[in-house]
Amino acid sequence: MARTVPPRVTSLPAWKALESHHKEIAPRPLRELFSEDPGRAKRMRAEGAGLLLDYSKNRINDRTLELLLELAEGCRLSHHIRTMFEGQHINKTENRAVLHVALRMPKSASLVVDGVDVVKEVHEVLERMERFARKIRDQSWKGATGRSIKNIVNIGIGGSDLGPVMAYEALRFFSDRRLVFRFVSNIDGTDFAEATRDLDPEETLFIVSSKTFTTLETMTNAHTARRWLLEKLKKEESIRHHFVAVSTNAAAVSSFGIDTSNMFGFWDWVGGRYSMDSAIGLSTMIAVGPENFREMLAGFHAMDEHFRNTPFARNLPVLMGLLTVWYANFFKSQTVAVLPYDQYLKRFPAYLQQLTMESNGKHVHLDGSPVDTATGPIYWGEPGTNGQHSFYQLIHQGTHLIPIDFIGFARSKNPLGDHHDILMANLLAQGEALAFGKTADEVRADGVAELQVPHRTFEGNRPSNTILAPELTPGTLGALVALYEHSVFTSGILWGIDSFDQWGVELGKVMAVRIIGEIAGKTPQGKVHDSGTAALLDWYRENRKKD
Ligand code: F6P
Repeated sequence: MARTVPPRVTSLPAWKALESHHKEIAPRPLRELFSEDPGRAKRMRAEGAGLLLDYSKNRINDRTLELLLELAEGCRLSHHIRTMFEGQHINKTENRAVLHVALRMPKSASLVVDGVDVVKEVHEVLERMERFARKIRDQSWKGATGRSIKNIVNIGIGGSDLGPVMAYEALRFFSDRRLVFRFVSNIDGTDFAEATRDLDPEETLFIVSSKTFTTLETMTNAHTARRWLLEKLKKEESIRHHFVAVSTNAAAVSSFGIDTSNMFGFWDWVGGRYSMDSAIGLSTMIAVGPENFREMLAGFHAMDEHFRNTPFARNLPVLMGLLTVWYANFFKSQTVAVLPYDQYLKRFPAYLQQLTMESNGKHVHLDGSPVDTATGPIYWGEPGTNGQHSFYQLIHQGTHLIPIDFIGFARSKNPLGDHHDILMANLLAQGEALAFGKTADEVRADGVAELQVPHRTFEGNRPSNTILAPELTPGTLGALVALYEHSVFTSGILWGIDSFDQWGVELGKVMAVRIIGEIAGKTPQGKVHDSGTAALLDWYRENRKKD
C-alpha cells in the first residue's frame, strides 16, 4: 500500500500567507479587534456535543480563520479523519489502527477492521464489565473470607492511571460513597504504602491495569499488592477473589496468577492515553455505576460525531487544533494553560499532559524526516481560582505569551451560597483582564502614583478560549475529553507527525533497567556511564544502606 504522507505544512500556500498575515495581526490589540467588529463575539463561537467554545478572545480575525481552514484543507484533514474512523493503520510506526472512537460507538453500530467487527467486541467487554461492577456495587462479590469489597485499588501508570484517577475525581459526585477508591502508580513504595495503610485486605480488590502487563512500575506494585494480601490471607487461592486485570496480554495476566475469566480485555488499537473509556475505566464504572459510564460514553460519541460531521469552521476540535498550531508556530508560544473552574476537574490538566504531550511531542514527520516547525506545546494548569493566587501574575504581566483554555459550568454540583457565582465571576474576569488589560492612562485615572503606573499597567492581548457547559456530568466529561483528543489529532495532522506512538519514553526505561542491575551489583558498572552519572550512582550506592 502506498504511504500517504501529508504534504509539508510549511510548503502550503496557506502557510506562507499565514506568515505574512501574522505580521499584520500580531501588533493588533484585542481591544481594537473587538471595538471595530461588534459581531465578533457572536460569530467566534461554536457549539457541539453540549459544549460551547468561545474563541473570540484569540489573536485572530476572519482572515486568520480562513487561512487556518485552508491549511487544514491543504493537509487533507477530512481525509485523515475518515481514515481514522475507518480503522486504517494510521499509527504508522506501530502499524496499528487508532480506534478509540470505536470504544464509544453504540451497540447498533458496526465497524469491521481487519475482518473483525470491533464494535461487537467492545460491547461484549462492556457487558462483562457491567456485570462485574454491579457485583461489587451490590456487594455480591465476596472476598476470600466471605466479606464484601469496600476498597478498590487501581494499580497502573500513564494512561492506565491518569484517566481513571481524573475520571474518578471528575465524577466523584456520582460515585458510590460506600466504596473507597485509591490509585497506585508511582514505583516509589510510598505510593503503595500510603494507599493501603488503612485498608483491610479482606475487603480490598486490586485492579491491575496495564495494556502490556509488562510495565515495570505496575508489575512491581502488583507483586507488592500480592504479598500485602497474602501476608494476611495466606492462601494463594485468595488471589482470584481480590485481583482482576485489565490488559491486552492474557498470557502475562495468567502467569501473574490472575484468573483470565477475571480479565477485561481491550485491543492494540487503543492507545494508553486514549483508553479511559475502555476496560481501563473499570474503576470508573464501579465508582459511578454502569448507567453513568454509558452516559460518559455517549458524551464521547456525541463529540466524535460532531468532529466527523461538522464543517471545520464550526467544528470545536478542529478550531482548537488549528489555534494550537497558530500560537505554537506563528506566535512561537511554548505552552498552553488549561484552567478548569471546577474543583472536580482538579486532575484534568495532569490527564491532558499525557494526552497532548505524549501524542504531539515529536521531532520527526511520519516519513522520519525532521520536523520543520515546533510541534506539541507544553500543557499545564491548575483549577481556578487557586492558580490566580499562584502563577497568573506571569500570565498577566510576564514576558511569555501563554494561550489559555478556561473551562466552566453554569451550575455547580455543590451549590453553596454564592460560591458558584463568585467562581464564575472570576473565570469571566480573568478572560477579560487578560485580553483587554489596563492601559497606563486608565491606571493614572485611578489616581495611582506615577512611580507605580508601569507596574500596575496590564498590556492585555493575552489570548484565551472559554469552554462552557451547563453542568459537569458524565456526558459532559466524555465530550470534553473527546474534544481534546480530536484537537490533538488535528494539530498532529497539520504537523505531519505520528500522534499515536511514544518512542520517546523508551530510552529512559532501558537505561533504568541497566542501572537497577548495577545497584543490585548484578552487572559491572564498567565505563558504561558518563562521569556525572557514574559519580551520582556511586553516591547512591554508598549512601543507600546508611541511617
Ligand atoms: O511509558 C509510557 C506508556 O507506554 C504510556 O503510553 C502508557 O499509557 C503507560 O506507559 C502504561 O502502559 P501500560 O498500560 O502498558 O502499563
